[in-house]
Amino acid sequence: MSTPLRILAISGSLRDRSTNLLLLQTAALLACVDLRLEIFPELGNIPLFNPDRTGVPPAVAALRASIQAADAIILSTPEYAHGLPGALKNALDWLVSGIELTDKPVVLFNASPRSVYAQAALREVLVTLGARMLDDACVTIPLTADMRTPQQLVSDPAVAQPIAAALQRLSASITALAANRAAAASQPIGRALPKWQPRPIPERRSFSGRYSRIEPLDPIRHAEPLYASLCSDSGADGFTYLPANPPADRHEWRSRLDIYAASHGASPDPLFFTLFDESGHPAGISAYLRIAPEHGSIEIGHIHLSPQLQQTRAATEIQYLLMRHAFDDLGYRRYEWKCDALNAPSRRAALRLGFRFAGIFLNAIVYKQRSRDTAWFSITDDEWPHVRRGFEAWLAPGNFDAEGRQLQSLASLRAQ
Ligand SMILES: Cc1cc2nc3c(=O)[nH]c(=O)nc-3n(C[C@H](O)[C@H](O)[C@H](O)COP(=O)(O)O)c2cc1C
Repeated sequence: MSTPLRILAISGSLRDRSTNLLLLQTAALLACVDLRLEIFPELGNIPLFNPDRTGVPPAVAALRASIQAADAIILSTPEYAHGLPGALKNALDWLVSGIELTDKPVVLFNASPRSVYAQAALREVLVTLGARMLDDACVTIPLTADMRTPQQLVSDPAVAQPIAAALQRLSASITALAANRAAAASQPIGRALPKWQPRPIPERRSFSGRYSRIEPLDPIRHAEPLYASLCSDSGADGFTYLPANPPADRHEWRSRLDIYAASHGASPDPLFFTLFDESGHPAGISAYLRIAPEHGSIEIGHIHLSPQLQQTRAATEIQYLLMRHAFDDLGYRRYEWKCDALNAPSRRAALRLGFRFAGIFLNAIVYKQRSRDTAWFSITDDEWPHVRRGFEAWLAPGNFDAEGRQLQSLASLRAQ
């Protein structure tokens, strides 16, 4: 027979007749041969956490050792004033600087269906500490004010069956995780990101730089000036590599921008912006798209600049501002640029801005009744500090002469 899995159960209540403790005691009786469930007895002995304090108190050492030795943790806690009981939060605070909970499978049991705030708060803390939540095995069993003993509860199917089912799912999840880990140990795998959390979705907001401004696309205010700057005869080339053709007239242009802006309703992807040149005129559009908060990946695209905005310091600053927001404010890990592989100006621009060429997807798209191979570029969060320094040096007022011409190129400043 294989060694039983060790489950550490922690009740967030210090009460002797705690219903959360009762739930865990009942689970301990129901744990079948493949699980051994031990209840942590020392929560009430853990002193108040103080980062200044040196040395590890015995109850904290016991908590850390018990978590480390366990294959999984079950937590069951009451809610106090819409939050976690101080004793439990205090114990978790002691674990913030450690790795005990990193990737540790954790399940939440709950004896009170009303305590939704405490459950959410506990989950947030655990995820922040790197725990791996096993949602399938979490269970709520109403026991508030239940005065029965664990032995009596075991013979009540309404209580025993959901607990036993949750323990079975817990056992299956741990076994599957262990199998995955064993496979991963013998195969190359990517850098661990134990504290990774999905990133925020970008919002409709404005950005201001020294030379440029970016505002959420507002067709009512921007359609007319954008029509003048992007859809004049001299700007017709700007549509060659875009999905759409030049609009027949102002009316069609306005309808198109209404559709672009309307996509903000249900989903912010693509999230369109109007780009303003140095004199403050709307002179281009662009969008965040392919926004994947769960992976921290985002693309900048739908870039359409008027001839007046192209190759200006405002245009470069706009790219910098949108990149900086994605990396520094939102914490994304990957920033993408892609274009028709035949769009030489776009490919040159990507490299100049600091993107790394990744390769070409052949026959990636059919658009305008023609084939498109797509060239892919990216900047990662590892590369970003270097790319950002280049932008900041290039955008400094001292890098331009009286006519606004650059003294040193972006690539040369990035290389320094
Ligand atoms: C100080 C205090 C504050 C409480 N606040 C809440 C609350 O905000 N929401 C809630 O659903 N229950 C609240 N309760 C009720 C407890 O969560 C509930 O009685 C729970 O079953 C107690 O768990 P225990 O039996 O494991 O000690 C509170 C209880 C106490 C003592």
